[in-house]
Amino acid sequence: MAAHRGATAGRCPDFRDRGGAGAPRPAGPLRRHALGWAAHRPTRARGATCGPDARRCQRSCHPRHRSCHPRHRSCHPRHRGRNATRDRRDAGRSGAAVRAWRCARGLAHRRNPDRRTPRSRVHHTGNRGGLVNVTLFGLGYVGTVTATCLAARGHRVVGVDTDSGKAAAVNAGRPPVIEPGLEELLARAVESGALRATESVRDGLADSDLSLVCVGTPSATNGSTDLVQVRRVVGEIGATIATSDRPHTVVIRSTVPPGTVDDVVVPLLEQASGRTIGSDLQVAMCPEFLREGSSVADFFGPPFLVIGGAPAAAAAVRELFGFLDCSVHVVETRSAESVKYACNAFHALKVSFANELSRLYRMLDVDSRQVMDVFVQDRQLNISPAYLRPGFAFGGSCLPKDLRSLLYLGRMNNVDLPVLEASLATNEMLVREVADRILASVDDAATNPAHNRRVALLGLSFKHNTDDLRESPNVTLAEILIGKGLDVRIYDQVVNPAQLSGANLRYVQARLPHLQKVLHDDVAEALCGAHVAVVSSADRAVADAVVAAKPPVVLDLSGRLGAPLETLDGYQGVGW
Ligand SMILES: NC(=O)c1ccc[n+]([C@@H]2O[C@H](COP(=O)([O-])OP(=O)(O)OC[C@H]3O[C@@H](n4cnc5c(N)ncnc54)[C@H](O)[C@@H]3O)[C@@H](O)[C@H]2O)c1
Repeated sequence: MAAHRGATAGRCPDFRDRGGAGAPRPAGPLRRHALGWAAHRPTRARGATCGPDARRCQRSCHPRHRSCHPRHRSCHPRHRGRNATRDRRDAGRSGAAVRAWRCARGLAHRRNPDRRTPRSRVHHTGNRGGLVNVTLFGLGYVGTVTATCLAARGHRVVGVDTDSGKAAAVNAGRPPVIEPGLEELLARAVESGALRATESVRDGLADSDLSLVCVGTPSATNGSTDLVQVRRVVGEIGATIATSDRPHTVVIRSTVPPGTVDDVVVPLLEQASGRTIGSDLQVAMCPEFLREGSSVADFFGPPFLVIGGAPAAAAAVRELFGFLDCSVHVVETRSAESVKYACNAFHALKVSFANELSRLYRMLDVDSRQVMDVFVQDRQLNISPAYLRPGFAFGGSCLPKDLRSLLYLGRMNNVDLPVLEASLATNEMLVREVADRILASVDDAATNPAHNRRVALLGLSFKHNTDDLRESPNVTLAEILIGKGLDVRIYDQVVNPAQLSGANLRYVQARLPHLQKVLHDDVAEALCGAHVAVVSSADRAVADAVVAAKPPVVLDLSGRLGAPLETLDGYQGVGW
C-alpha cells in the first residue's frame, strides 16, 4: 500500500484504465470491514498542495459575466472578494447625533434584536460633510417617507410624481400616505424648504446631483415584475440630463428583479442621456427595507444598507445615507437586487412556517404560541445564520425522519402541510439536479473528449466530521451515479467501514452494497484520472488534493474551501 500511495500522490498511474468500479484495485492491505471485506483503515496520505500554476478561471465563468462591461466590478462570484466584502471604512464613527435627533422625536431605541446582529454593524458619525441635492421619483409609501427623512437629515429633496394630487399634498405640508410620525416630519421639512414636490421631471432635476427611483414595480398578470414605471422614469431622467453636463447619479430604490439595473436601466439611461457610465453618470442599486406601519422608524433604523454598483456610485449612496447607524454592504449589483427578494421570501416563509405548524399543533391540542415562544429563544440554530449557507441537501438521521413524521401527523389529522412537504421535495430535487449536472458534464463532448466516466466523490457522510451515512444525500448521489454506469470513486476522511454498525451499517448496505469496491482510503487515489471531482468535504487536505489533481470539472457542494480550489479551471459551485 505504501508503494501504491507513493505512486499515486498527486498523479495517476492508471489514468488510461477505465475499467470502472470493477477495475483491478491496486495492491495494498485490505481493510477488515463490517461489510465483510477489508481490514483496518490506514492513515491517509494528504494530497499535494496547490502548485504555483494555480490560476484564475477564464473559461468557466458564468455566461453573463463574459459580457461584463468594464465599468462593472462584477465578475464571477469567486473573483469578487474586492467588492463583496463589507465596507468598514466608516467603522468607529459615532451615531450619537443621529440617536439624539431620533430620541427627541420618539424614534430612538429601535433596536429589534431579530433584525440586527451586533457583529455586522458599522457605526457612522452622520457623515454631515456631504448634503446632496436629491430628486426622488415616486411619492408613494417608500418615496414619501424617504424624501421626508432625507430632507429631515438636511439633504435638499425634490419629489416628483405623475400624480398631481400627491405633489400638491406634499407642497401643502401633508403626506399623501399615512405613516406614524410622518406628518410632523414632512410638515417641518416642507416648511424649512428642504422638501418640495413637482410633477415636472425637468423642474425636479434642475439642481439635482442624484436621482432616487422609488416608483412602483407591481406584479404583471403572469407574475412577472412590471417595470413600466421604472423604464419611464429612467428614460425621462436620461433625456433630461442629456441637456446638461452636470454629473449625475441614478439610484434604484424600487424592488427590481436581478439583472434589471445592468440589463434595463443602464442601457436605457445611456441611450436617453447620450452618456456612458463613468465619470459624469453613475448608477447604483440600493434596495429599501422599510415596512409600512413603521416606515419612518424603519428608515432610520434599517437592518443594513446594501449598495450594488461601481465604487463612485457606491460612494455617492454612502454619502446620501451617511447618517444611518447600520452596516454597509457594497456588493455586486445583482446581489443588491437579490438581497431584497431573499429578505421578503424569507419573511414570507417564516410566517407560513409558523402558521402551518400552528394549524397542525392546534389539531394535536398543542399550544403553538407556547411552542414558538420557546422556539425563538434558540439563537444558535433557529433565529441565527445557521442553516442559511447555500450548499448541498440536508440529510442525516433526524431532519428527513422528523419531517416525514410531521407530514404523517398532518395526513392523520387532515391538515395539509405544503411548506414542510416542499422542503423535503426541494431537498430531493437538489440531489437530482446535482446528479444531472455530473452526468451532463461527463457526457459533454467538448469538455470530456475522452469520454472519461470517472467521478471522484469526496465526502460521503451527511455532513462534515461524522461517519453517519443515514439518509446522506451523498449516498443517494453515489447510488444514482453508480446506477447510471459512472465509474465512481469515493473518499471520506471520517467514514471507516470497519466501524459502521447498527442502523448506519444497515442503511449503507441497502443503498451502496458495493461500497467496499468504490471507497478509497487515499484522496489522491480517489481523484486519480477522474473527469469530475464532487467535493462535499470541508477538509483542507481534500481541497489540496483536488488542486493538485486538477480534474477538468470540480463541483463544489461545500462552499467552505475557498481559494485555491475556487480558482481552478472547471470549478463550479453547486449554487453560486
Ligand atoms: N411599500 C413598501 O412597504 C415597500 C417597502 C420596500 C420596498 N418597496 C418597493 O418600493 C417601490 C415603491 O413602493 P411603494 O409602495 O412606495 O409604491 P407606490 O405605488 O405606493 O408608489 C409609487 C409612486 O410612484 C409614482 N409614479 C409612477 N410612475 C411615475 C413616474 N413616471 N414618475 C414619477 N412618479 C411615478 C406613482 O404615482 C406612485 O405615487 C416598489 O418597488 C416596492 O416593491 C415597497
